[in-house]
Amino acid sequence: MPIVAIVIWIVLPIGWLPILKNNLQMMNKRYLKIGFIGAGRVADVHYNALQECGEVAQLAAFCDLRPEAVYSRQKEWGVPGFASIATMLDSVQLDAVVALVPHNIHLDVMKKCLERKLPVLLEKPIAAKMEEALEITRLSDEAGVPVLVGHNGLFHPSLDRIVKFVSEGWIGKPLMASAKSLQWLDFRPWDFRKSLEQTGGGAWMDCAGHLIYRLNAILGEVQDVTGFVSHQARDEMEGEDTAIAVLRFASGVIGHAVVSYGCKLPGYEKDWPSGCEQMLMVSGDKGMVEYHICPDPHIRYYTELEGCEIAKPGVWEEVAVDEPFETSFTEQMRHFLECVNGKQKCKVTPMDATRLLKTLLKLYENQEN
Ligand SMILES: NC(=O)c1ccc[n+]([C@@H]2O[C@H](COP(=O)([O-])OP(=O)(O)OC[C@H]3O[C@@H](n4cnc5c(N)ncnc54)[C@H](O)[C@@H]3O)[C@@H](O)[C@H]2O)c1
Repeated sequence: MPIVAIVIWIVLPIGWLPILKNNLQMMNKRYLKIGFIGAGRVADVHYNALQECGEVAQLAAFCDLRPEAVYSRQKEWGVPGFASIATMLDSVQLDAVVALVPHNIHLDVMKKCLERKLPVLLEKPIAAKMEEALEITRLSDEAGVPVLVGHNGLFHPSLDRIVKFVSEGWIGKPLMASAKSLQWLDFRPWDFRKSLEQTGGGAWMDCAGHLIYRLNAILGEVQDVTGFVSHQARDEMEGEDTAIAVLRFASGVIGHAVVSYGCKLPGYEKDWPSGCEQMLMVSGDKGMVEYHICPDPHIRYYTELEGCEIAKPGVWEEVAVDEPFETSFTEQMRHFLECVNGKQKCKVTPMDATRLLKTLLKLYENQEN
């Protein structure tokens, strides 16, 4: 055999070895198998977030009580759908689940998952009632597996910028906070938000948490809550459609939060976030910061102090937020998967989420008549 042929005969296969090895590794790669419990409205954003983390995890199964959701999602996602949680958990070997169901069944879902030692990403709020939240916290501690509660706004990088601006002292001593979330909610035919029992309240219970946990990150815990709830615009729902709360933080900062599912704003007929206005503001004795979450994400900084890298003293500095809103869900999913893989500790524990629920429930307990 000529020498050249011998070299080709030896080198060619050796050249192919890394590719072959790579392919074998890909075939053997162990993706985390994720199950969705609930395939309604918010399942779309979690599905997209999971797709973004496709190098680590894949959706392996889902379940939903509604046969039409099982049918359509099965076609859309290409994974088996089940009619009940127990059937899914008994049929498919999962590594973790994402729970996307009405608030009043969070405890039941958590019992089923935690007795199987399955890590859970549980959507907010942790539960509809305080005793259910405490039980979820107890069961999670006992099971010793990662449980992350879905305070997704904490995972958006824009919030870190605001926390930094305030904690570095550019607004001086924080004095006052204001937050609002206004929209005309597009109820789905099956929407659990129509039911007081399933939601544990109305617009306040469903939506205010997103404002409060962000304020907590900037200003610390809320100590007192009082205010009003009203039900005048949305006959579709049993709970309040509008709420105004007055807050006092443990630090002495005072503030208010306004939430409504009965406000028509431009674009309200289209899907969220169109027609939704969400923002918060924190002011101090030397400056102020406004966080416009939607519809046009941007941050306005003001300080009278010299030396700030973001804002010149004495003038408003407006900075666009480039990362899309969905980033919060993608980063939250990435973090959850790292927790499942033992690389991180959950950033929002059941205990943290129970403290938030306590703040939310205080408005119902203390509302003025
Ligand atoms: N983080 C966010 O921004 C955000 C946004 C929307 C909803 N959420 C939260 O996500 C959760 C779900 O909200 P949604 O908007 O998707 O509600 P949804 O009503 O659209 O969907 C809930 C789904 O759960 C299914 N379901 C009910 N009981 C079930 C059971 N026992 N087993 C299996 N499936 C069951 C329903 O059939 C429905 O398809 C809630 O906790 C909500 O507060 C969070």
